[in-house]
Amino acid sequence: MKSAYIHIPFCKQKCLYCDFNSFDNQDYLIESYISALKKEISCYNIKELYTLYIGGGTPSYISEKYISDILNLLPKSTETTIEINPGTISFEKLTAYKKAGINRVSIGLQVADDHILKLIGRIHSLKEFEESYSLVRKAGFENVNVDLMFGLPTQTLNSFKETVEYLINLKPEHISSYSLIVHNHIFKNLPSDEEEREMYHYLVTKMKDAHYKHYEISNFAIEGYESKHNLAYWKQKEYYGFGAGASSFIDNKRYTNVRNVKQYISLVNDNKEVRILEETLNEENKLNEYMMLGLRTIEGINIKETNEKFNTNILKRYEKSLKKLNGYRLIEIDDNVKLTSKGLDLANVVWEEFV
Ligand SMILES: C[S@@+](CC[C@H](N)C(=O)[O-])C[C@H]1O[C@@H](n2cnc3c(N)ncnc32)[C@H](O)[C@@H]1O
Ligand code: SF4
Repeated sequence: MKSAYIHIPFCKQKCLYCDFNSFDNQDYLIESYISALKKEISCYNIKELYTLYIGGGTPSYISEKYISDILNLLPKSTETTIEINPGTISFEKLTAYKKAGINRVSIGLQVADDHILKLIGRIHSLKEFEESYSLVRKAGFENVNVDLMFGLPTQTLNSFKETVEYLINLKPEHISSYSLIVHNHIFKNLPSDEEEREMYHYLVTKMKDAHYKHYEISNFAIEGYESKHNLAYWKQKEYYGFGAGASSFIDNKRYTNVRNVKQYISLVNDNKEVRILEETLNEENKLNEYMMLGLRTIEGINIKETNEKFNTNILKRYEKSLKKLNGYRLIEIDDNVKLTSKGLDLANVVWEEFV
């Protein structure tokens, strides 16, 4: 069964660090974008869905009516997530989401420090986050993710510790962490690489102590609340991608939709193809990618399962690479091939072996 991702590229205000396909001051496009999105989705006769993820941008910025309209076009999935931002939701919106079949909410906090929130261009304070989070719980959502960032301007290990402790007390079912990726040079006083790694190590240790399962390099969950949608990506399952810039993986082909919002709308309106074929995976590419994706997860790749799936012997096929990575103590091999704690810090080096 396939999954689906739906992209909503609108935000109330663009955060200073963000390089996603998301825009403020484009509200005049919302209505025509949603019509195009609905038309794109309707082109596929989707009978069943494993998971659905509505991301952005800020899906909670647009009217809940649009979200319900979109969901009405699709079958129910086992896990339907929406990304929301503090400062863009209300109890009514959340109730409408619930009614429309959404059963998981992902909310961006980033950091529990008003000074840094302001520095990075977030629209909300910690208090506003708290109000939104309470509304989410009040509306009855029992599967909530909070996004967290580290390596932020002026952030010290001590201030990061406060954010982590704050989150642990809050007890969301899931936490996704992001190390800041710098796209421009507007930020001063960024922590050093060593400090950034210390923050990550602190997070990993503390989350384990708080009984969260560290199940992917950057993701933590209370047992049973691992994101089914993300796990499907890492297991190389098929998914549709709808909306500007969304990618999809179907029949061993990777596509990306045109990124430009206006262009996306006019192509759909003119009944033209919005998907751009990025690559067709042959058996070798597919196995390489499967290894890379699987090595993002903490349990890694099951050797027997992979051998059967690809009708091969991965220990032989990757003998040289695995020996080398094992020698550097970046991976360990038992029934599975997986990253060591050193490998978690140097995952890029490991993945390079499977490009
Ligand atoms: C697709 S964004 C949307 C979520 C939602 N709009 C919000 O801001 O809360 C998902 C997450 O990506 C992360 N992110 C965005 N830009 C980033 C960057 N430059 N470096 C690291 N993480 C980033 C943020 O943690 C953000 O919450
Ligand atoms: S609200 Fe989210 S998607 Fe929009 S600019 Fe900020 S981080 Fe990016």
